Amino acid sequence: MNSIPRDKSLDSTLAVVREGFPFIYKRSQRYQSDIFEIRLLGMKTICLHGQEGTKLFYDTERFMRTGAIPRRIQTTLMGLHGIQTLDGEKHHQRKALFMSVMTPGSLHKLMEYMAADWRYSIKQWANQEQVVLFPEVQELLCRAACTWAGVPLEEQDVTRRTRDFRLMVDAFGGVGPRHWRGKRARSRAEKWIQGIIKQIREEKLHVPEESAAYRMAWHREPDGKLMSLEMAAIELINIIRPITAIGWYITFAALALHEHPESRARLRAGDEEYLEWFMHEVRRYYPFAPFLGNIVRKDFEWHGYQFPKGRLVLLDVYGTNRDARQWHQPESFRPERFRSWNGSAYNFIPQGGGDYSFGHRCAGEWLTIETVKLAVTYLTRGMTYDVPPQDLRFPLDRMPTLPKSGFIIENVRSANKVD
Ligand code: HEM
Repeated sequence: MNSIPRDKSLDSTLAVVREGFPFIYKRSQRYQSDIFEIRLLGMKTICLHGQEGTKLFYDTERFMRTGAIPRRIQTTLMGLHGIQTLDGEKHHQRKALFMSVMTPGSLHKLMEYMAADWRYSIKQWANQEQVVLFPEVQELLCRAACTWAGVPLEEQDVTRRTRDFRLMVDAFGGVGPRHWRGKRARSRAEKWIQGIIKQIREEKLHVPEESAAYRMAWHREPDGKLMSLEMAAIELINIIRPITAIGWYITFAALALHEHPESRARLRAGDEEYLEWFMHEVRRYYPFAPFLGNIVRKDFEWHGYQFPKGRLVLLDVYGTNRDARQWHQPESFRPERFRSWNGSAYNFIPQGGGDYSFGHRCAGEWLTIETVKLAVTYLTRGMTYDVPPQDLRFPLDRMPTLPKSGFIIENVRSANKVD
């Protein structure tokens, strides 16, 4: 039996908060190991890194989610007892519900709503002296997401509803006021969406049968009962909130376009293959999800290491996407690297890895891919703009992180090069 390398500090909780994204990555390099042990809030915790660690992490025979996600994350980011916390048949059934709204036809419709919103927003921005891209893009995404999902949203409510979705995400690495703001935002959003589900169930609001709102409102649990009102709202929010969260990637994409004029030139020329690589490289290079958690289902041994039942195990998302064994010069932004990517579900995991239906891999990954590609198309071919001097640094000790300025643009002009 091998012994798992142990981090020297008595407890790493503060170090995780202080160091942020690179916490696991740095230690896996320090110990030259894909596995090591720390203590988090006093509890022994195993950290996994890299492709082999990811393969293990997504083995649902060996791990479960029950008990892996702290309540403070559930009461802000995800909602209590939502899909992210389920296991086995219950998870499989709930996941099928989510995947049923991700059909190519449905995503095509969403892209049409988004394209219309991009054109509308670009016209608005052309009349403004300066535009802070991040909150503007989030509003654009929220409008399109609500229309697509069958959730009525008045124009005068767009800003405050979008802000609440943002605060829920912003709370995930926060303590104190950031956490409380996220909690209050979630309460407001759940109340709002519960009202919508109720209206659908009482047939006071008619929405298309293929919409997410309809499906959540009428979904039956394995026992044949309708999902509770609270759960239906939580899961509908689990569709709309992450769509607005794509604003983080789009803002990073704008930063990459600014810092890599050669990429901008290729994209402006309409190079479709390059667009695919660029979108993946944005998701690889810029930090968003730091790590994920699982609980050991039953005792097992892996490469001679002992995994005892009940142990918390963290997977290094940030570091696996910059593992030098897979990603040559991982700290350079190089979209071309995706020309030779093998498409593995275990070495590139910005939205989780493994299987969509049976594991917890992100239900909205295809949607995210299409949304980022559309945004990059509008940023390069649908508009022109200048980027004034501003603070574009994004601190790695803040989760989630973003260019400090929110990415300011000016002199926005519409350009009609989008097909
Ligand atoms: C799960 C990231 C966008 C819906 C996840 C997971 C990650 C992630 C890391 C967890 C994977 C795991 O636990 O193994 C992201 C990022 C996004 C994004 C970085 C882009 C900003 C979306 C979108 C949707 C979505 C647009 C829906 C429209 C979900 C759902 C789950 C999930 C429902 C839970 C899946 C499950 O537990 O089976 N996402 N996501 N996400 N995501 Fe996303």
